[in-house]
Amino acid sequence: MCGIVGYIGNRSAIEPVIEGLKALEYRGYDSAGISIIDKNNAKLIKTAGRVERLSEELSGLKESYGLAIGHTRWATHGSPTKANAHPHTNSKGNIFVVHNGIIENYQDLKQFLIKKGYRFKSNTDTEVIPQLIDYHLGKTKIFLEAFKQTLRELRGAYAIAAAYQDDPRNVYVAKLSSPLVIGVGKHEHIVASDISALGSDTKKVFYLEDYELAVVSSDSLRIHDYKKSMDITKNPENIQVDSKETSLGDFPHYMLKEIFESPQTVQSAIVGRIKPNENIVKLGGLESVANQLQYIDRIIIVACGTSYYAGLVGEYLIEEVAGIPVEVQLASEFKYRKEPLSRSTVVIAISQSGETADTIAALNKVEDYGILRLGIVNSVGSTIARMTDAGVYCHAGPEKSVASTKAFIAQVTVLAEIALYLSNGNSSLYKPVVNELVNVPTKITEILRQSEKIKKIALKYSKYRDFLFIGRGYMYPCALEGALKLKEVSYIHAEGYAAGEMKHGPLAMIERNFPTLALLPNGNLFEKTISNLEEIHSRKGPIIAIHSQKSRVQMNIEDSIEIPETIEQLQPLLFATVLQLFSYYIAVDKKLDVDKPRNLAKSVTVE
Ligand code: F6R
Repeated sequence: MCGIVGYIGNRSAIEPVIEGLKALEYRGYDSAGISIIDKNNAKLIKTAGRVERLSEELSGLKESYGLAIGHTRWATHGSPTKANAHPHTNSKGNIFVVHNGIIENYQDLKQFLIKKGYRFKSNTDTEVIPQLIDYHLGKTKIFLEAFKQTLRELRGAYAIAAAYQDDPRNVYVAKLSSPLVIGVGKHEHIVASDISALGSDTKKVFYLEDYELAVVSSDSLRIHDYKKSMDITKNPENIQVDSKETSLGDFPHYMLKEIFESPQTVQSAIVGRIKPNENIVKLGGLESVANQLQYIDRIIIVACGTSYYAGLVGEYLIEEVAGIPVEVQLASEFKYRKEPLSRSTVVIAISQSGETADTIAALNKVEDYGILRLGIVNSVGSTIARMTDAGVYCHAGPEKSVASTKAFIAQVTVLAEIALYLSNGNSSLYKPVVNELVNVPTKITEILRQSEKIKKIALKYSKYRDFLFIGRGYMYPCALEGALKLKEVSYIHAEGYAAGEMKHGPLAMIERNFPTLALLPNGNLFEKTISNLEEIHSRKGPIIAIHSQKSRVQMNIEDSIEIPETIEQLQPLLFATVLQLFSYYIAVDKKLDVDKPRNLAKSVTVE
């Protein structure tokens, strides 16, 4: 989604801002822009295209600029045109603003400003910000005061960076429900919406909290809480970004690279946590709340998209292994739902990015309930990681493809660990799950070795317009996730269904042009799922079965993919890998932008 990068310092500001914007490109955007300012000189350059275009336009500049603010925009209010791209300015063109999030009361503010004689050039909500700053500046004459007053009048979610041509030594930033970090360099600061935009030389960072603004210059930084009207003192934190992990290497796409990282992903999620020889599951991130966890009687998992489906797998796992009732709710629904919540309930938020606005809002909802809030997060230091009481990191490393793959694998692995941890070793499944978790990386590797075969089958089906994914038990959430993956990267209509639901509606769709991908592991639900396949087969629906050696299909189906045997509780880790590869190869065959599907963004920072 939208990205912010700003620079103030003693070298040319253009390079770090352009590099930062490029680092944020994977998150999805449709236009970009930059304002560069130096004494008595300011330039605004925008494009309805890629950051590379901006970079080309800037290459002819002779002067050096010490301050720049840049932005990549993912359209919410107004189409992706040059006029709607950020930075936005006041009518005089001397105040520049980039903004992530949504200003919910922008219509009211716009009407107010229009009545005061202000004219607007874009359809965005953002444009009210520089205009409102201008309005207050006219009264207070002090930019910081005008900025503060503007922030107090904005409703919604925002991360903002602002610059004023008459004050080329400072960048002004603020945040509410949208992340903003300030990287510290030598005689320089870089402000950004994500630490990945700070560049590998930046080792220290300040995280702004809600209602904080900062006045940032090359050598100093003033942080102020504009709700409580007081200055804040805080120390910078260390960051570690491994740039090696984020390069494509020999892979054609990040999605494929990340699928192939799955064995290592599981390994990283279990190392130091699962010790089969000692029969131990150690989750350091939960130690501080271990006592509280003894008394919980209900778990609510909140998440969106793929993380939500991982949560559904977690529901099966925690209920079966730890015997605690679990409910999984879409974060966007949970936050508006009026349900009774007791203090013995735990809310677990699952998020790869740790910045998903709906999931943050779900956690905010229960902030004052005295309820324990845990996180299963991949991005270290992200908003959700910091706002939860405790949690378990996924350690999957940066995920750049918009379609989540290895993060799902890591989330399910962590959920299995949490299920084991919460069982206190009192489950008959404890030992088998602990023992088998360490075998999963090798088994995923075996599946990856079959990628050519999976590709061949995928290509056979790339021209179909509709798809059904079915499974029972642990395979039901996998079917939902498989359908989501196919939809988002290949734009093929796909639905995931519990196999037992076929006769209650979806069977009506089955005919020779409506293939079904059946998830068919060995286990007590095998025969029931086979009966569902018989019904599809007799209606001429093509079937692709993913199965193990012990769950081969005896009927004459179109295609099958055999994968290694594992215990029921960990089957999602193996089946999901096949589904990810299947979707990937179809998308590549359709010549689509696999890593950046249309209309989607990596980190959904608006509700
Ligand atoms: C699908 C996908 C999305 C995310 C969802 C939540 O492949 O990536 O559905 O899973 O937007 O994002 P996080 O996990 O960052 O909260």
